[in-house]
Amino acid sequence: MATSWRQRWLLMVLTGLRGWQLGITEARVSTDVLLPYAESHGPSHSHRHVRDCQAVTFGTRTFESWPSSSHDTLPVARSSVFISDMPGGAESSRWVYGHMTVVPDPLRQLSVLEPGGPGGCEENPRVSVEETAAPAGCLYAQNAGFFNITSDGCLGNVVSDGRMVRDSGGVQNAQFGIRRDGTLVFGYLSQEDVLDQSNPFEQLVSGVVWLLRNGEVYINQSLKAECDKIVDIELFREFVDVRSARTAVGHDVNGNVVMFHVDGQTHKRGMSLWEVADFLKNNGVINAINLDGGGSSSFVTNGTLASYPTDTCKPGSRWRCARHVSTVLCVHRRRCQPADCSGHGVCTASGCLCAAGWRGERCTEPCLPGYYGDGCRHTCTCFNGAFCNHDNGRCTCPPGFYGNFCEKVCPAGFYGLSCAEECACEDPCACDPQTGSCNSMSNRAVQCLGRRRQKEAYRHEPYLTEQTWLIITLTMASLLLIRLLAHFLRATRRWLLFGFSYTQVPLSDVKGEALTYSFLQLH
Ligand SMILES: *[C@@H]1O[C@H](CO)[C@@H](O)[C@H](O)[C@H]1NC(C)=O
Ligand SMILES: *[C@@H]1O[C@H](CO)[C@@H](O)[C@H](O)[C@H]1NC(C)=O
Ligand SMILES: *[C@@H]1O[C@H](CO)[C@@H](O)[C@H](O)[C@H]1NC(C)=O
Repeated sequence: MATSWRQRWLLMVLTGLRGWQLGITEARVSTDVLLPYAESHGPSHSHRHVRDCQAVTFGTRTFESWPSSSHDTLPVARSSVFISDMPGGAESSRWVYGHMTVVPDPLRQLSVLEPGGPGGCEENPRVSVEETAAPAGCLYAQNAGFFNITSDGCLGNVVSDGRMVRDSGGVQNAQFGIRRDGTLVFGYLSQEDVLDQSNPFEQLVSGVVWLLRNGEVYINQSLKAECDKIVDIELFREFVDVRSARTAVGHDVNGNVVMFHVDGQTHKRGMSLWEVADFLKNNGVINAINLDGGGSSSFVTNGTLASYPTDTCKPGSRWRCARHVSTVLCVHRRRCQPADCSGHGVCTASGCLCAAGWRGERCTEPCLPGYYGDGCRHTCTCFNGAFCNHDNGRCTCPPGFYGNFCEKVCPAGFYGLSCAEECACEDPCACDPQTGSCNSMSNRAVQCLGRRRQKEAYRHEPYLTEQTWLIITLTMASLLLIRLLAHFLRATRRWLLFGFSYTQVPLSDVKGEALTYSFLQLH
């Protein structure tokens, strides 16, 4: 069944919202409040109980963590409309409609908002998602946690943009949170986990039922962990099994947060939590919890309600108008955008992107000494106390030094900045390369003197001694003699050869021929 949903979902996304709206004519009444427990919210048993009642394979960990995605470029969430075929009910309620919203960089783009803004959880205003989302500039928004239908107050833990709004006191319900370092957290938390200050929660909200754990449906285990009251268990099972409007939140393998919303009406249309879990699993979600559902399942795009209104929310029906909710999941630019990046960077949705050599939230600070370049990631190589340009890493040499890395001392006779000054000392070796003073007794001056003495010593000594002359003359004479001897021997050898091979033919022996023929025969 799951595969066919997916295929149809893809198809239906193409057809879009307009086509679907044409097919729906049913009007809804405003009485759809689906709650997991009769009047209260969740079990108050200990964290230890939750740990003890979970499968051994999960060890002592009662929640899962995942690093969230983050990037420097403009992050824009993607939201797709889906329409799913849910056979089994009446033909008119077969097709359900919802949104899947993938939020990259959730640390900077996702907020849990109190209804109507900060303080709303205590003041308990009945404020719709649209009303909460508009002033916060949410591109996408949907229902988050549950609320108390008697008092209208928020339920469970709530942390909104780093502010601890509500501490449930360890009530064990499925949680979704984002810690300060961007870690996504799904599952059951002890009160210590919630109040942890080393890596505190930036956002935290309570749902009911952990849908997916490590890519597997976790509903039955979740029922056991969350419901300790026998009287409630039947009601709780019905809450899970019944088709209704739903909202959920999860994450994919890349650490993007996935927001899920499906419209419906309890007992008539929508999805059971089993179906929601399967849907999310088939769309690559790894951990997910169920959030508020029932009628409190609105999806808002750019301040406008995009979900099918399950209730009419007439002004007089305040009490049962289920779209009136508590907390909201909002996709927006979390950080107040800096007006400028001090001229050393560009503004992006996630803050300033600093130019090479600059750092800080508004790019006001140069790299720390010894570092330069993009993100101040490069290490300077400048010697002799040279100044390193934080932008390009070039070295500016102090007086007395030169070279690309200021690794060389000025040549003798020169001193000062860029070795541009000429020494006015009687002895250039005694010239201080930094100040030009003529009494330098530095190591360098001593070496310079040593080198000069060596040179002078060479100059005063004759290049060749008498003995050397004698050796050279004798050698030349011997070479000359050897050569003469060789010549003599060669000449002698030729003479000998001629002596043996020369045959004289007497002229009288040659008959009838010309008079003078001689033959040379070489043997
Ligand atoms: C809901 O509010 C009522 C009235 O203030 C209160 O008595 C009840 O304990 C609250 N329920 C929860 C779960 O907080
Ligand atoms: C969940 O529990 C119910 C009742 O105990 C059982 O019928 C069902 O098969 C279980 N489902 C899963 C996926 O374990
Ligand atoms: C939201 O509204 C703004 C301004 O009205 C518009 O430019 C933008 O395209 C809208 N975004 C969506 C996703 O509708």
